[in-house]
Amino acid sequence: MDRGKSPLLEKPDYLVCTCMEVMYSQIVEEIKAGVTTYNGLSERLGVGTGCSSCVDEVKQILQETLEGE
Ligand code: FES
Repeated sequence: MDRGKSPLLEKPDYLVCTCMEVMYSQIVEEIKAGVTTYNGLSERLGVGTGCSSCVDEVKQILQETLEGE
């Protein structure tokens, strides 16, 4: 899958975690800054600490972003 040099943030930004109001771009920024685990993202951003409905999505973003680097 060749999507060019920078696959990061090719998607439009959107709200991933409505409980904690965390945007897709914030999650990607943390991953780029070196956070490589879901728990790390949860600690830094609070994602998944409310209703937990975003957990699978956050994990998927994490995986996709790490693979895209
Ligand atoms: S949407 Fe992320 S914890 Fe509820």
